[in-house]
Amino acid sequence: MSDKPGIEKHRIDYQKSILLESQAALNPFEQFNVWLKEAETAGIQDFNAFTLSTVGSNGFPHARIVLLRGIDQGGFVFFTNYTSNKAAELDFNDKVCANFFWNVLERQVRLYGVARKISEAESEAYFNSRPRENQIAAWASPQSREIRTREELDEGVQKFTREFENKPVPKPPYWGGYRIIPHYYEFWQGRPSRLHDRLIYKGDSDFEWFMYRLAP
Ligand SMILES: Cc1cc2nc3c(=O)[nH]c(=O)nc-3n(C[C@H](O)[C@H](O)[C@H](O)COP(=O)(O)O)c2cc1C
Repeated sequence: MSDKPGIEKHRIDYQKSILLESQAALNPFEQFNVWLKEAETAGIQDFNAFTLSTVGSNGFPHARIVLLRGIDQGGFVFFTNYTSNKAAELDFNDKVCANFFWNVLERQVRLYGVARKISEAESEAYFNSRPRENQIAAWASPQSREIRTREELDEGVQKFTREFENKPVPKPPYWGGYRIIPHYYEFWQGRPSRLHDRLIYKGDSDFEWFMYRLAP
């Protein structure tokens, strides 16, 4: 047995920051941008990663990490394969929950919204900015489908590397982005003794936001 304390004893008293109504932005988008920037400045690897939860036809929630690639038009953009499991779930049910956790800042942001496919032109513009190897990978990987071996994946990479030799790699028709338009945000700031700050922004049908606090 290790003499290090186990998970039942592992405990951090959060005290890096506070989140008061008086200092929070009136608009959650602005508040999110402030925190995202601070996560980047703090040097967090994958500061733009978030857990995306979807619920498909079997009623089970599914969660996985994806990377935030844009914040615009009131929404949060990520990219994926439109034939993946997540995309099948989004076809069935466009409601999502997104969760950002920036542990060194003792912060969590949770948002709820609907995810809509972005335009082909937007997806193409982003795809064209990706490293060539990643572009080839999008062709070679049938995301979320069973493959027999690792070699099968590598062979796919070789095949598409040959196919697109000396040519720009086009965006696969089944690859693109979604924009999550949130109607609810929660900003969570860890505080000492488990008395954390939780500020909610709820949007009405005109996207006017009102803020309130929840008990931790
Ligand atoms: C740090 C990190 C970043 C990731 N970024 C993405 C991403 O931007 N898009 C994506 O489709 N998958 C991304 N993945 C992989 C997903 O977590 C997941 O394995 C994949 O999308 C298949 O999910 P699905 O079968 O539920 O569709 C990332 C995983 C990690 C750990």
